[in-house]
Amino acid sequence: MKGRRALVTGASSGIGEAVSRLLAAQGYRVALLARNRARLEAVAAELPRPSSGGDHLVLPCDLTRVEEIEGAIEAVEAAFGGLDLLINNAGIGYRARVSELDPEPLRRVFDTNVFALLLTCKACYPLLVRGDRPVVVNVSSVVGRRGIPGQAGYSASKAAVCSIGEALRIEWAEEDIAVSTLNPALTATGFFQNQLNPQALPDPDLGDARPASGVAQAILALDQDPRPEVSLRWKWRLLGILSILSPRLADHALVRRLGGDWRVPRRRG
Ligand SMILES: NC(=O)c1ccc[n+]([C@@H]2O[C@H](COP(=O)([O-])OP(=O)(O)OC[C@H]3O[C@@H](n4cnc5c(N)ncnc54)[C@H](OP(=O)(O)O)[C@@H]3O)[C@@H](O)[C@H]2O)c1
Repeated sequence: MKGRRALVTGASSGIGEAVSRLLAAQGYRVALLARNRARLEAVAAELPRPSSGGDHLVLPCDLTRVEEIEGAIEAVEAAFGGLDLLINNAGIGYRARVSELDPEPLRRVFDTNVFALLLTCKACYPLLVRGDRPVVVNVSSVVGRRGIPGQAGYSASKAAVCSIGEALRIEWAEEDIAVSTLNPALTATGFFQNQLNPQALPDPDLGDARPASGVAQAILALDQDPRPEVSLRWKWRLLGILSILSPRLADHALVRRLGGDWRVPRRRG
C-alpha cells in the first residue's frame, strides 16, 4: 500500500482524521479536505512523511460550493497526478422531527452528504481512471439502511449515499474502479455536537459508541479488499434486512432499541 495516493473528505476531525492518520502511517500520501484550515494543518503536521516522497496536501474547501470542489480536485491533480483512493467521508447530521423541519439546514444536509459526494466523484473520475487499482469508499451510515425517527432528513441523505454506491460500482466497473459503501454505527466523534439543531432531541446513548479508529481500520480493509457494502454492527445489519422482510417487526425492534418517547405505530383494522 506504500505510495498510494488518497483523498479524504472531512479530514479535520472524527473518522476522517482517524483514517488520514492510519493511511499516512501505512505510507499513503494523503490529501486532507475540510473547511477548517487550522485543524487540517494541525492534523497534517503530525502525519509521517509519505514513503513515496512529496508532501501530504491540505485542502481547505467547503463542499457545498461547487467551484470549491473543482478547485480542490485541480489541486490534487497538480500535486498527485492521479488518485488511487477516494474516501467520501464528510457529512453533517440534522436532528428534527419532520413536523418541525427547517428548509435551510435540510438543504445543507443534502448539499453536504449527497450533492457534494456526487460532484466529488465526478471531479475525481479522471484522476481515478489514471489511478493504480482505484477504490472509492463512500461513508454512509447504518441509518441509510433503516431510517430513524428524529433524523428523517439525515437518514434519507445516507440512504441516497447507499443508492449512489449501487449505481456507481456498475457505472465504473468498465474502468475497474471499485466502489464500496461503509455504514458505521454510533462512533465516538464530535458528530452529535456538530449536528445542526442538536438541542431538538436528546443525544443518543453515547456509551455504546465505538472509537473512530475502528471505522478507519474498516476503510483501510476496503482499500485492500474492496467489497460492495459493509455495515459495521451485526444488529443494524439485521435491522436493515428485517425492515424489508417485516417492517412492523423492525419498527418494534428499533423503538425498543432507541427507548425514550418513541412509540410503535398502532395496527389498524
Ligand atoms: N459519528 C457517528 O456516530 C457516525 C455514524 C455513522 C456515520 N457517520 C458518518 O461518518 C462521517 C464522518 O463523521 P464523524 O463522525 O467523523 O463526524 P465529525 O467529526 O463531525 O466529522 C465531519 C467532517 O465533515 C467535515 N465537513 C462537514 N461539512 C463540510 C463541508 N461543507 N465541506 C467540507 N467538509 C465538511 C467536517 O470538517 P469541517 O467542519 O472542518 O468542514 C468534519 O471533518 C459522516 O459522513 C457521518 O455522517 C458518523
